[in-house]
Amino acid sequence: MKIAMVGSGYVGLVSGACFADFGHDVVCIDKDEGKIARLREGIMPIYEPGLEALVESNAKAGRLSFTTSLAEGIEGASAIFIAVGTPSRRGDGHADLTFVYEVAREVGQNLAGDAVVVTKSTVPVGTGDEVERIIGDTGTGHRFAVVSNPEFLREGAAIGDFKRPDRIVIGAEDEFGREVMREVYRPLFLNESPILFTSRRTSELIKYAANAFLATKITFINEMADLCEKVGANVQDVARGIGMDNRIGPKFLNAGPGYGGSCFPKDTLALLKTAEDYDSPTRIVEAVVKTNDSRKRAMGRKVLDALGGAEAARGKKAALLGLTFKPNTDDMRDSPSIAIAQTLADAGVAIAAYDPEGMDQARPLMPGVEMCEDPYAAIANADAVVIVTEWDAFRALDLARMKDLAKAPVLIDLRNIYSPDDVRAAGFSYASVGRA
Ligand code: UDX
Repeated sequence: MKIAMVGSGYVGLVSGACFADFGHDVVCIDKDEGKIARLREGIMPIYEPGLEALVESNAKAGRLSFTTSLAEGIEGASAIFIAVGTPSRRGDGHADLTFVYEVAREVGQNLAGDAVVVTKSTVPVGTGDEVERIIGDTGTGHRFAVVSNPEFLREGAAIGDFKRPDRIVIGAEDEFGREVMREVYRPLFLNESPILFTSRRTSELIKYAANAFLATKITFINEMADLCEKVGANVQDVARGIGMDNRIGPKFLNAGPGYGGSCFPKDTLALLKTAEDYDSPTRIVEAVVKTNDSRKRAMGRKVLDALGGAEAARGKKAALLGLTFKPNTDDMRDSPSIAIAQTLADAGVAIAAYDPEGMDQARPLMPGVEMCEDPYAAIANADAVVIVTEWDAFRALDLARMKDLAKAPVLIDLRNIYSPDDVRAAGFSYASVGRA
């Protein structure tokens, strides 16, 4: 089966490479000539474990190719995926659908046969209806159906998530759409991955509801962490204690500096907009967005406290370990590190930082922060070391060496990856999240 993937960003590229790996014939399309030229040479636009090898082997096998021409790319494709960006619109938080609609128009104008058009980009409820209208208005004589098929890929684990999904959600309004999508995902039927067919609007909402629920779960445990600190309890044990209840489940209960990334912040805002448009308030999500926003700065203040308070902190130096919003990605979008660095800089604290993959993206976002070539270079002469992102490389730092290098043995572990006893035994003053 031939599949066209319009948009070769994170979602398009991972999905395209995985479909090709299943044996489909995939063309990835993107307007960015430089990106396509680099992809043809095997150079990835993003960091994602396993992606480069997957692209290389499927391109070599002739199942995966790249083009800037949409007309050429969609020719003969039974399924045409729209996987372009839907950033937050400046000013109001609505998802910006300009790119999605542009692609829909161009697809309609260039259809050369019957095809199913699939929105994989995260789009507000009703977008599929509009895409259908736009394609219909181009006067194409070919049969088409518009289907919603949201992605649930976690950065850093995207290939595994694609190949072994918890579920595949397909929102289709007619049998033609369902039939083509069954064929697209047939390789996963054999894996027994559950496929949920719903209406198109329901499928569009499932994506937002899933992300808003996960963001709520994280924010809930973060608030419990604050309470744990006050009452002298341990948030990790609280998470275990509630997570063992099957109705709650153990995942997404790690307390930390707040969620960031390309999805949760943007999708929760877009959901609030939809709720507002339809006059159906989602107060819980409103509270989650506000609570998470203020948490990031609060984490900066936590570091200031460990430096002796805002006054005493002026002129001191903090080392930030990890800058990306989570490990195994180079993505800095809405990373808590940005607000933390800003809070520290505002208080006159000098900052040195190290991140295994994110420093290039971080540099323009945190001017004045010294980017170092390894964690120990950042730690040298620091008055406090802050673990912001739980990269594996920070899980077994040489505490004795750190103590020698740092000006003061102060460790603030915003991801709770160390045992308080071990760190204190190594002579550090230690603060973490939600552990007395
Ligand atoms: C998320 C969804 O998981 C994925 O299904 C969706 O399609 C895209 O958005 P992603 O943004 O890549 O994926 O990262 P995820 O692993 O979900 O983490 C998001 C944020 O939540 C990170 O900042 C992470 O550090 C934070 N988080 C996650 C916690 O603070 N605690 C947790 O227990 C889990």
